[in-house]
Amino acid sequence: MRAAVGAAALAAMLFCGCGNGKSPADAGHVKIGFLVKQPDEPWFQNEWKFAQQCADSFGFTLIKIGATDGEKVLSAIDNLAAQGVGGFVICAPDVRLGSAIVGRARAQGLKVMSVDDRLVGSDGRYITEVPHLGISASEIGKTVGRALAAEMAVRGWDTAGTAVCAVTWEELQTTRERTDGAIGALVTAGFPEARVFKAPQRVADIPGAFDAVNAMLVQHPEIRRWLICGNNDNAVLGAVRAMEGRGYDAASVIGIGINGTDCIVEFEKDKPTGFFASILLSPKQHGFDTAAMMYRWIKDGAEPPGETYTAGILITRKTFREILSSQGLL
Ligand code: GLA
Repeated sequence: MRAAVGAAALAAMLFCGCGNGKSPADAGHVKIGFLVKQPDEPWFQNEWKFAQQCADSFGFTLIKIGATDGEKVLSAIDNLAAQGVGGFVICAPDVRLGSAIVGRARAQGLKVMSVDDRLVGSDGRYITEVPHLGISASEIGKTVGRALAAEMAVRGWDTAGTAVCAVTWEELQTTRERTDGAIGALVTAGFPEARVFKAPQRVADIPGAFDAVNAMLVQHPEIRRWLICGNNDNAVLGAVRAMEGRGYDAASVIGIGINGTDCIVEFEKDKPTGFFASILLSPKQHGFDTAAMMYRWIKDGAEPPGETYTAGILITRKTFREILSSQGLL
């Protein structure tokens, strides 16, 4: 009896060509991978949350993988292929892995599109064959710079005794454009360039920013008030913590982040801190829309647009609840 069932099952497998691990029910069922570089950052958790909403409403399977280094990315791609995935969306831990990622995806017959950080090839240029969705980094940086200048004016601070701390992560173009944009807008608003001090992060997280800013502060004990910009919320949070350790507080610091998703706990604190505002990006567009684009590409052969750039809006301690709730983020 057993042997008969086994033979029938084998025949069914051969008949439907399902020897690759897919069950007959899987035929035509779309599976999509979503790989992110920093799975513990709220920004990426929100991307995943919205990608999952897309999967639930379109009826495909989403496989979320935290790919924190090159080895993990490449084994994740093999793993996805073994699971019968048709393609994946990726924010790579290092964009210079671009050629390796595209090569492995092609070898496995998987479609690939990037989100947030655009892949670069071995020639150092963007890999333009890979569709990309990212933020309008330079514009968003300028919004930070203009908002810093406006709040400085509201507080009646003069430039003597005030300086800018720019927490930078210049390896990546999207993050370099943000801090360049912020500095550019401050200088356009009349802030002296000589009083802009960069604190380059060695690691792009809160402790990385904390260390970078501590090292910078040691060199400038004469500064009484600081404006802070950075590549994202975590960069500014690390800077604010470092400044607190040296006696600067909400009265002497104006910090404005980017993401708007990673500073909620900070805004919820009873007492204001130097973290004054953030530019809220759209994790819904980055998560839901990229997953939807990949789904249509796999299902209907509709290739996503080559480039899509998203905008952001300023949120503060006063406005964040209302704005985040309206976007399904609270
Ligand atoms: C980069 C940053 C993230 C987030 C995204 C937005 O990947 O590391 O924190 O700002 O860009 O696209």
